[in-house]
Amino acid sequence: MKTLISILFATATMLAGGRVDPAPPPPPPKIKVGLIVSTTGALASFGSDTKNGVDLAVQEINKAGGIGGQEIEIVFQDCASKPEEAESAAKVLTAKKKVVACIGCVASGLTLAAGPVFQKAGVPLISPTATNPTVTQQGKMIFRGCFMDDFQGEGIAVYAFSDMKAKTAAILSNQDDAYSTALAGFFKDKFIELGGKIVSERSFRYTAEDYSTEISAIKAAAPDVVFAPVYYNDLLAIAKQSKKLEYEPKLLGSDGWESRQLLAEDAVGVEDSVFANHFCTGQGQEAKAFAASYQKEYGEEPSSLAALGYDTVCMLASALADAATADGDKIAEALGALKEFNGVTGKNIRMGKDRNPEKPLVMVKIQKGEFAFVRELTYEEVRPPKKK
Ligand code: PHE
Repeated sequence: MKTLISILFATATMLAGGRVDPAPPPPPPKIKVGLIVSTTGALASFGSDTKNGVDLAVQEINKAGGIGGQEIEIVFQDCASKPEEAESAAKVLTAKKKVVACIGCVASGLTLAAGPVFQKAGVPLISPTATNPTVTQQGKMIFRGCFMDDFQGEGIAVYAFSDMKAKTAAILSNQDDAYSTALAGFFKDKFIELGGKIVSERSFRYTAEDYSTEISAIKAAAPDVVFAPVYYNDLLAIAKQSKKLEYEPKLLGSDGWESRQLLAEDAVGVEDSVFANHFCTGQGQEAKAFAASYQKEYGEEPSSLAALGYDTVCMLASALADAATADGDKIAEALGALKEFNGVTGKNIRMGKDRNPEKPLVMVKIQKGEFAFVRELTYEEVRPPKKK
């Protein structure tokens, strides 16, 4: 007598066209990667841009088959632009969510707060955008996907001296902001080393609204260029007040200038100014292709934060593929060995000593309502290899 099982089996075989197919294997588990960015608070726009870039990269990687067949799953935590919330997000991601690695945070101060938690847990953290040198000094689990402010300041000095043919410069910085003061120092040392002269150094306080005393002092010194390593809101006020004082200096800036507000109709006195950045759409084929898919997905141009978010995921994915394990030490080792990485923010990027990438600086000009690409300064141009 036929058993029920054998009848069912025969029926299933018939339905399957005479072949017995084993049940499909369950999909492989997803690789959990943490993401701490600020989508609320003072740095909300930095955070949402970065997150958009991250999401786009993950979508593309998963569509192409993931990492060794495993998809990436982003476990997102907003840190509200606050250091203490960045720290608690780090604890949630390492202890509860058990991520294998994490991307974050968007600013140096926030990354410095989250870093020790990742270092202690043995989980690699890679910040796409934190440029302050101390960030990666926290330990061997802490990486970044961008260049550092010492390289940025030196690169801007090279550009001022070689491209702008400036012999004299003035510096206007925010004395309450580590990003601003550090960059001012790096620029100054390199500009002097190249043979330039600093003819005026002025600074303002965090809460400043009136910059006219500093601007007038700089005007009197008549420098060839004025380096202003400040965030975009200060820059916009400085440029506007300079114009009012009938002074239109050649302004030169840093990545903190990144904001589409510089392109707005009411932005005064910034036309033709040049600043250093991580990315510009006109930078190359990869950048253009990225900008097109970003535009399609989000309906706007990508900022440098979006581009760095995108590249950082791709760098991490490449390391995860090389390591082929969830072991933090092995993933960190693979990240540390990363080289010849072609991203949308530059070609042939390599992870240098102490977990800091060596990559180009992109000079951008504010021109006719656009960020126009000027040129890339390669790592070697700014820091020529020492002759033996
Ligand atoms: N470099 C800035 C920091 O470390 C963050 C930033 C990156 C700002 C890119 C603008 C563009 O705080």
